Amino acid sequence: MAKLCVIGTGYVGLVTGTCFADMGHRVTCLDINEERISMLKNGIMPIYEPGLKQIVDQNVEAGRLDFTTSYPEALKDSEFAFIAVGTPSNDDGEADMQYVKAASSSIAKNLDHPIIIVNKSTVPVGTGDWVAEIIHDLNGQVTPQFSVVSNPEFLREGSAVMDFMKPDRVVLGSTDSDAANRVAELYQALRSDIMITDLRTAEMIKYASNAFLATRISFINEMANICETLGADVREVARGMGMDKRIGPAFLDAGLGWGGSCFPKDVKALAHMAVTHDTHPQLLQAVMDINFNQRKHAVDKLEKALGDLKGKTIGVLGLSFKPNTDDTRYSPSLDIINMLVAKGATVQGYDPQAMKTSKEEVPELNLCQNPYDVAQDADALLLATEWNEFKSLDFDRIKANMRGNVVLDGRNIWNGEELQEMGFFYFGMGIPGSL
Ligand code: UDX
Ligand code: UDX
Repeated sequence: MAKLCVIGTGYVGLVTGTCFADMGHRVTCLDINEERISMLKNGIMPIYEPGLKQIVDQNVEAGRLDFTTSYPEALKDSEFAFIAVGTPSNDDGEADMQYVKAASSSIAKNLDHPIIIVNKSTVPVGTGDWVAEIIHDLNGQVTPQFSVVSNPEFLREGSAVMDFMKPDRVVLGSTDSDAANRVAELYQALRSDIMITDLRTAEMIKYASNAFLATRISFINEMANICETLGADVREVARGMGMDKRIGPAFLDAGLGWGGSCFPKDVKALAHMAVTHDTHPQLLQAVMDINFNQRKHAVDKLEKALGDLKGKTIGVLGLSFKPNTDDTRYSPSLDIINMLVAKGATVQGYDPQAMKTSKEEVPELNLCQNPYDVAQDADALLLATEWNEFKSLDFDRIKANMRGNVVLDGRNIWNGEELQEMGFFYFGMGIPGSL
């Protein structure tokens, strides 16, 4: 059992700290956002993540987990300090490291004992050395002995707790192998594969993994667009491809493309690192272009079906970037809504968890309380995020509420034949007849 602190209580930091506590460690989670810490102290979750509240409550109750805004309190007796603050993209795609710098500096200013600093945040290759420089520069040579270990996260939002507790692998990188081994001990109870390598390689594994997953999705979306012109069904193409063990079935679902706080940021950051180091990320650029064009493709389909979108009403089901999260960062749904609004359409939408943030991001969006209100007087209905509750709707009721009959199934979750028989004008993504 170790004493550790986690800096940053977002989707990554809060899950990381809570799961370490659940494994028996003593954890203090720090955030500079006082409101967030006050919510957590009152048992209110600042984010929606299935199953998280239950294990937060259990571990707070057991005295293994607490929350603070004070660095001295968080660092007291901590053998490890995990940095899990945001690393959002700058305009040119470079990762914004200001928060990592702020966290590293705050650690340095309050450090009075040896510690292992663990980069959990997704940080550009070489950052581990940079964090060490920050701490050395701030404290000069009197810095207590410390090491930096890269420990990138592979958590998917909506299944983050499970992904932490049942990882395919734990990746660690450091110039100090003893430090890496001590971090590895924290994960022993998970009995998963643990890979120890150098700092830069560990940081690169994170970027390369996300970029490859994003590439699979852009690949199948390009296949979807080709399937539409050739009359093939991309869902069956993906099924047939996935039977090849070298390909596998995962991450081959065609649709509106990827969003979230990771793929867009990490692919852009990797491409930026390549460009600034005189290499040409041709494939990464294509992966990003295909992904963005999927959003435009959906708007084009609606325009083909409805004609001029000005004055039309479009209902949108799902606003978060994927199901089972309230996160709307780079959500395909919100990007499409912005495009529709720019063309003069009226947009009404509903999401089980992401209503508040969506309204903040797209003020023109009219919020509805359920899918049937979204259909009310709509000329077209767009399924943008495949929440389970949208998979078995009462389509008689949907049809009765709608003014038009156009249905664009952005994530290919509905039975197109059935809907056509009911009189809907059904489009999917990469399904025959979808043009
Ligand atoms: C983010 C990225 O999504 C992920 O790819 C990366 O690996 C880690 O950073 P996430 O948890 O989604 O993970 O970040 P976010 O939801 O933005 O939360 C960051 C938290 O850090 C916020 O609560 C913020 O208040 C806090 N923070 C930020 C600090 O505590 N100190 C700072 O100096 C800056
Ligand atoms: C991703 C990585 O999976 C995770 O390992 C990393 O730590 C963080 O980034 P996340 O972004 O939370 O996780 O969700 P994920 O399930 O990977 O979906 C990412 C995006 O791809 C979503 O917008 C989703 O809708 C889309 N997607 C996913 C597809 O369009 N098709 C697919 O087959 C799978």
